[in-house]
Amino acid sequence: MNILSINDLSKDDMLNIFEIADSIRDNKEQTSLKTNSILALFFEKPSTRTRTSFEAGISQLNGKSIYIDANTSQKSRGESFADISKMLSSYCDFIAARLYRHDDIIEMAENSSVPVINALTDLEHPTQALVDMYTINSHIKNFKDVKIAFLGDIATNTANSLMLAATKLGAKISLVGPKDYMPNSTYFNKAREHGFIYVYDDAKEGLADANIIYTDTFVSMGQEAEADKRRELFKDYQVNSKLLEYASPNALVMHCLPAHRGEEITAEVIDGPRSIVWEQAKNKLLLAKAILLFVSMQNE
Ligand code: CP
Ligand code: NVA
Repeated sequence: MNILSINDLSKDDMLNIFEIADSIRDNKEQTSLKTNSILALFFEKPSTRTRTSFEAGISQLNGKSIYIDANTSQKSRGESFADISKMLSSYCDFIAARLYRHDDIIEMAENSSVPVINALTDLEHPTQALVDMYTINSHIKNFKDVKIAFLGDIATNTANSLMLAATKLGAKISLVGPKDYMPNSTYFNKAREHGFIYVYDDAKEGLADANIIYTDTFVSMGQEAEADKRRELFKDYQVNSKLLEYASPNALVMHCLPAHRGEEITAEVIDGPRSIVWEQAKNKLLLAKAILLFVSMQNE
């Protein structure tokens, strides 16, 4: 199986991944992949956490990783994603790819003989959404009691994956962003089939009763040319102390990172008592291992 999108996972699949993560955390079971399993990481975009957590994760499962920077591979000279994927899958047991175009990861998956994991594309960040929902679940036992308010760029990859994962698991989600700035309609409509999702431009309304406040950068990778315009567009949706007053008194703050203090979030909030951002980031290692084990079990 591949994990290109949250659409590739059922609710039970996600809960199964969380159970695997719990067993790793609690050292309940011997957790190991086939010895010398190799994970190829083919990245067109930078990464701090996703790359490191998957590399550390596969090492801890007795496997190895090979990082391929697309810019120093033959991709930079026009080799196709299909050809790259055929080759990588003949050397390795898994491929994790971080690409610009989502269609390119689909092309990789179609040409791979091993599982392909989306480590972020312009459209989705499914492994992040799994980390996020797992982290939320460690604080709020029942997903039906969770109400997430996603602020700022509500059409970004992390929002797309999170809205699908949250609604599928039974959590509520509000997307809070500028008037006339719409979420991706395909993702929004799919999430609406699963459960509660609404869009607000009024932060006070959008944050009402929210117990999870989530934000991401206003300028995603690849959008650098529009940076000033986007900072201006989203500035009223900065997660700051004043805005937190609109949410539940115990609301927790999350951010997939990297953070830009003073833009989408203030230093006071991200480094303050309501923030669970570092726990969220730490869980990326646990979930990287759980995802690799889950995918390998599906392909046995
Ligand atoms: N959250 C996340 O994907 O971080 P990186 O870009 O550092 O991998
Ligand atoms: N939306 C961000 C997520 C970074 C992890 C980006 O694509 O740059």
